[in-house]
Amino acid sequence: MRVCRGIQEIRDIVSGWRRRGDRVGFVPTMGYLHEGHLSLVDWARKSSSRVVVSIYVNPTQFGANEDYGRYPRDPDRDEVLCLSRGVDAVFYPDEEGLYAPDHSTWVLEECLSQPLCGRSRPGHFRGVTTVVTKLFHIVQPDVAVFGQKDAQQALVVQRMVRDLDFPVRVVVAPIVREPDGLAMSSRNTLLSGDERQRAPALFRGLSAAAARYDAGEREAAALCAVVTDVVTAAGGTVDYVELVSRETLRPAPRLEGPTVLAVAAWFGRTRLIDNVFLG
Ligand code: PAF
Repeated sequence: MRVCRGIQEIRDIVSGWRRRGDRVGFVPTMGYLHEGHLSLVDWARKSSSRVVVSIYVNPTQFGANEDYGRYPRDPDRDEVLCLSRGVDAVFYPDEEGLYAPDHSTWVLEECLSQPLCGRSRPGHFRGVTTVVTKLFHIVQPDVAVFGQKDAQQALVVQRMVRDLDFPVRVVVAPIVREPDGLAMSSRNTLLSGDERQRAPALFRGLSAAAARYDAGEREAAALCAVVTDVVTAAGGTVDYVELVSRETLRPAPRLEGPTVLAVAAWFGRTRLIDNVFLG
């Protein structure tokens, strides 16, 4: 496995593979890898002979009062995990990062990035689309794999790829959960023991709402209230619970067609997100 710190280095490696006819799969991450990330590697492997993982805690997608400083980092452990999963190259940009000190160019998706996390985290998706654009230009993958846990991010990236004609196929892979249902996330490690005990309420709430849907409930307000009640009873502070169209992310007052029931909530200082498909 190659570990590259420099942009030219990873470009040279990937273009060598391409000349030999390899297809390149790419999994962009912010590191502190877990089984969810490693499942994305497996998805990339399904359609690629080479897999690249990037590890970069992207400063531009964090707001001023967010958890950039405390975001977990352990590149040595990440390298071991990548090696164990057969990753061909890890791109781990050096300390100066990916941005020039006077960086002033941004990529904006202006529709799907507005609701849900876009409302609570202004500027977040601008940081995501900009860094993903840079990473796509650097790695030049055939396929890039994103996780369904970040459902809005996956849709925003798919829209950007379509609108800006990136020659990349975006694959969205299912959520991987802990045995108690908590969606895997690097941020789970920021939870205290007590918060970690309470955080599975996110999935319990979503599952309870899904059960109400199966029993015939179709009103968004009723389904969202189920989630809010379960999360609040567990001591979480709800940021949002919304039922939205799976394609447009517009609110779906009544459940008709494919929707996603999405939740964001705080457990202590840590904000977690999760979602399920309904309809
Ligand atoms: O999902 C993430 O880990 C990040 O948002 C991504 C896609 C690596 C961009 O920094």
